[in-house]
Amino acid sequence: MNYNKKSVRDIDLAGKKVLLRCDFNVPLKAGVITSDKRIVAAVPTIKYLLEQGCAVIACSHLGKPEPSFDKWAKKQAEKGKAPEELTEAKWRKSLEALCMEPVAKRLSELLGKPVILAGDINVVNDDVKAKAAALKPGEIMLLQNTRFNKGETKNDPEFAKELASLADVYVSDAFGAVHRAHASTAGVAAYLPAVSGFLIEKELGVMGKALANPDRPFVAILGGAKVSDKLNVISNLLEKVDTLIIGGGMAYTFMAAKGYTVGTSLLDTDKLDYCKDMMAKAEEKGVKLLLPVDTVVAASFPDPIDGPVAVETVASEAIPADKMGLDIGEKTREIFAKAVMEAKTVVWNGPMGVFENPTLAAGTIAVARALAESDCISIVGGGDSAAACEQLGFADKITHISTGGGASLEFLEGKELPGVACLLDK
Ligand code: 3PG
Repeated sequence: MNYNKKSVRDIDLAGKKVLLRCDFNVPLKAGVITSDKRIVAAVPTIKYLLEQGCAVIACSHLGKPEPSFDKWAKKQAEKGKAPEELTEAKWRKSLEALCMEPVAKRLSELLGKPVILAGDINVVNDDVKAKAAALKPGEIMLLQNTRFNKGETKNDPEFAKELASLADVYVSDAFGAVHRAHASTAGVAAYLPAVSGFLIEKELGVMGKALANPDRPFVAILGGAKVSDKLNVISNLLEKVDTLIIGGGMAYTFMAAKGYTVGTSLLDTDKLDYCKDMMAKAEEKGVKLLLPVDTVVAASFPDPIDGPVAVETVASEAIPADKMGLDIGEKTREIFAKAVMEAKTVVWNGPMGVFENPTLAAGTIAVARALAESDCISIVGGGDSAAACEQLGFADKITHISTGGGASLEFLEGKELPGVACLLDK
């Protein structure tokens, strides 16, 4: 995959109308943004475009709205909702909850200027076209949630053309959504000159260098629940790293593949052979594969997830039949931290245990702390590991925390990212 793409620096933008795709898919609680990280990350590109005299028409998806009432009702029924709950008013309410108003407000605060919010369930309509046409250099408007239009996730050319009709140039800075081949992330690039913003440039630059030409030793730390979510990541990273560390729920399938009994721990039984193959591949490639040597176990998964739980630490090869592994043990924390301290480049994706529970967070905290204390180039994939670094206050000591969860994972898999492939080559 070619990551050498043109950016906003490589084309003349003076006075142009720019359709800017951002990833403003921010977490919301009762209509309030709980982390504005993704909006903040888009600001440098927006400011640059405005300074160039561009009129900026920004757009993004937010959450996973269902734009068809029938499909929404079907999904709700499958989830067990009673027929009287499946009204058109309730469906509209579900869409309202994912309107872009809170994003427009926060963006306006960050830019210190008005952000015109325009559009309805179709995203582009006559009013939006008129407002886009009237938008002056240095002004910015934000379209309504792109996923309100049925054509967005289908990458419908008609919707892509409608979006493209608003502008002269397409700039994508939505790193978190580049793994989606949708109308506003990829399709639109067929109708406009398409370049990246600074965020995509930075994400591709830091992670691309780590994968292509890392300072060594290069260590990857993978965690999270299931081996099946990270099959291609494990295989691809084994081609590149010096040490691969496996923790979290996925470690138990590796332990079982080694012949350990893992009690009632999470197990991907149909991935045992895959784990054996990966251990053989590591040996063949001379990659050190580190698995937990000790494990924090409990009688069952905590319920609620952050509720009290009685734990003990056992050797990984001696997990009792009635116990479940839920975090890496103290010896393992030391071994993993030592590998991080000796590394020059570290990529981390996925927590080491059930970090939402304070009793089971020590493994994830230990990895985050080691990354923060080390001088290495540290790269944290989005999602849970990024949230852990932020919650623990280590974020500013990490070289790069990706704004993409799924996108950074697919990047580590070596997959082609449609939202990057569609941009102009340098
Ligand atoms: C994310 O949150 O990872 C991106 O915004 C992509 O969102 P999606 O998984 O709903 O496509």
